[in-house]
Amino acid sequence: MAYTTSAMKDHLGQTTRSDTWWLNPAAMALTFVVFVIYATWAALQSDFYTYPRGSEHYTYLSPFYSPPFQEYFPNINAFKIFPAFWVVWLPIAFRLTCYYGRKAYFRSIMMSPPACAVGKGERGYRGETALPWILNNMHRYFLYLIAVLVVFHWFHFFQAFRFFPDHRAAEFGMGVGTLVIVADTVLLTLYVGSCHSFRHIIGGNVDCFSCARGGELRHKSWKGVSWLNQYHNLFFWASLITVGFADLYIRMCAMGIWTDVRFF
Ligand code: FES
Repeated sequence: MAYTTSAMKDHLGQTTRSDTWWLNPAAMALTFVVFVIYATWAALQSDFYTYPRGSEHYTYLSPFYSPPFQEYFPNINAFKIFPAFWVVWLPIAFRLTCYYGRKAYFRSIMMSPPACAVGKGERGYRGETALPWILNNMHRYFLYLIAVLVVFHWFHFFQAFRFFPDHRAAEFGMGVGTLVIVADTVLLTLYVGSCHSFRHIIGGNVDCFSCARGGELRHKSWKGVSWLNQYHNLFFWASLITVGFADLYIRMCAMGIWTDVRFF
């Protein structure tokens, strides 16, 4: 089927397409709205983010509060800032500047345009040459910082196998929450590992792999990241959903609404 693009100059949503083009942006918009409302609410709670709740020997830590700066540097509590705020600005900045993330929110939230060959109305777009969109060029710097966050996620990943029955010494175990944290950590790692900027760092600036230092290893790494990169959109959504669900699960268990079932 051939689509005309003349509608793009016309009204918002005007198109000759007869398929369900609106379904994808509508689903993305709904996911974004639900996530933003829940994440904002959870970040403002400053409680129920560890399981067991409030214990210095916790097994699960909500990813919204990782790393727990208020635990490592108790003096920062003097700033009277919600603990989650020390952390969440980074994943927000990283996702907002993500190459795929831009496509997702431009289509679903800003509808500019909502889909291929669908009108976006009379809106000026000057590319990423002026504020605020020029800030998208900072993505690579957010990548360096988010790599540190991923390391903390792996630290809490291993903590999720450590239980303290009756506040006694730690013992190895595994519960449903462990699986939730494993899913969150692995999917976040795949999302960051499939990043376009990461792919460029690995091999995008090399003209000749065999001439470059460590060429063979770089070539293999670049091929691996390139393979992951084709699923970047999938990892974007999967990691967004699992990070939200990990907080919800830990919060519900800490509040006593859900029970964390231990396998062993
Ligand atoms: Fe999406 Fe870097 S391009 S995380």
